[in-house]
Amino acid sequence: MTTYLGIDTSTTATKAVLVDGNGVVLGVGKAEYGYDTPRPGWSEQDPDLWWDGTIAAIRDAVELSGVDPLSIDAVGITGQMHGLVALDASDRPVRPAILWNDQRTATQCEDIRRRVGRDRLIEITGNDALTGFTAPKILWIRDEEPEIYARITAILLPKDYVRLRLTGEHAVDRAGASGTLLFNLDQRDWSDEIIDSLGLPRDWFPQTFEGTDITGYVTEEAALRIGLRPGTPVVGGGGDQAANGVGTGAVEPGTIAVSLGTSGVVFAPTDRPVVDSDGRLHSFCHAVPGLWHQMGVMLSAAGSLRWFRDTIAPDVSFADLSLEAGTVAPGSDGLLFLPYLTGERTPHPDPEARGAFVGLTVRHTRSHMARAVMEGVAFGLRDSLEIIKEQSAVREIRVAGGGADSVVWLQILADVFGEPIRTVDVPESAAFGAALLAAVGVGAYRTVGDAVAATIRTGDRYEPGPEASRYEDAYLIYKRLYPALRDISHELGSIERTPTRQG
Ligand code: XUL
Repeated sequence: MTTYLGIDTSTTATKAVLVDGNGVVLGVGKAEYGYDTPRPGWSEQDPDLWWDGTIAAIRDAVELSGVDPLSIDAVGITGQMHGLVALDASDRPVRPAILWNDQRTATQCEDIRRRVGRDRLIEITGNDALTGFTAPKILWIRDEEPEIYARITAILLPKDYVRLRLTGEHAVDRAGASGTLLFNLDQRDWSDEIIDSLGLPRDWFPQTFEGTDITGYVTEEAALRIGLRPGTPVVGGGGDQAANGVGTGAVEPGTIAVSLGTSGVVFAPTDRPVVDSDGRLHSFCHAVPGLWHQMGVMLSAAGSLRWFRDTIAPDVSFADLSLEAGTVAPGSDGLLFLPYLTGERTPHPDPEARGAFVGLTVRHTRSHMARAVMEGVAFGLRDSLEIIKEQSAVREIRVAGGGADSVVWLQILADVFGEPIRTVDVPESAAFGAALLAAVGVGAYRTVGDAVAATIRTGDRYEPGPEASRYEDAYLIYKRLYPALRDISHELGSIERTPTRQG
């Protein structure tokens, strides 16, 4: 039997999935951790959490599967994108990693636009400067922590720190690297022009690889700690969204992957770099060689429902909360929710955006509020889908992520999109996608498309129902909320809050 391991270094846990050559999941392991918010809008994590999490998650997955870990054929890695891991000359992090959801770099984003020119930046990288991306974080350290900056000798992304500990190699996959704002999208490699304009040393940035390329082999030391065979190949893998695209079968133009995780993503593969000249969508490399993708990202999708559950209904399971929401009529009797609990990216790149319930009356219950949260997230995802439809074909929409466990939410999505959607029966789809990339990397399949066709089965299909038209009016009102609340949100955001630890 052939077996492949996918590792996902996410923001809240490291997950390991062991898959056989037919795509059957043999074992899943998970090691959870939190992240720090030392100041409002900041988000940091100790990279060693990811390495310890990797060891624990792989051990769990292997134990559950009963597979001999020495027989695992290849490893693929994926993880949270955009995070900055800055290393010193002995490959130790010079400070905690600054994560994708950190919002501290507004000044540095302005600086980048000024140095490179906004249009040129979008032309080369496919993206406008956003606070979550990697490049402004590097400049932030240069501006604010010059003694720490002076010790940096190499830059990695979170998943690639795990790669370093596994293989001893500095390497980055192209899907991940294209989320740094330092990457030439067309040429699929670092942009010397941008790196030079920002005055960064070119030798900080490691060699880049396609998702299916072998980037190194598990070292003796790592093998001893984890129980893997020394010399097990480790492939490039991809950022979590690209790997999720593979794990849900979005590997050709027209097949759209919607991810309903903490963040919410609408992911559209393209066969050339398609760039929105206004920078409303992200354009990155796919983990599939020769493909790119466009993507809209909302920062709090299932994260909004989690916040609501934890805050308002801590004793209620998500399943029960979803049933409650199902008892309320579409439109939540005139209650709207704006899901910008952690600022927003698409279509309003605004770290100071805030969430809101709008339209509350004494008639509204907890069930209304739960449904309004689900509907608000669906409207937010539709914002991205609408922009994608302007630029690419949409033939099939596949939904995965924790929120896809709720049939109520799935029906809301189909109704709000006005399009049929399908679920994908894959646990931990990003880690699963990384395992498929590993299988292709060692020649088990000729292409990623072949691997997907052989292993991924779609689940239930949800059609837009009679309620779909009811959502059109609500969506038009929803679209007016952000502009109406923008200035108020910004003023409220200036009120001081205390540091917290999440998770
Ligand atoms: C993608 C993005 C998130 C993070 C967190 O652009 O920011 O998906 O990778 O998982």
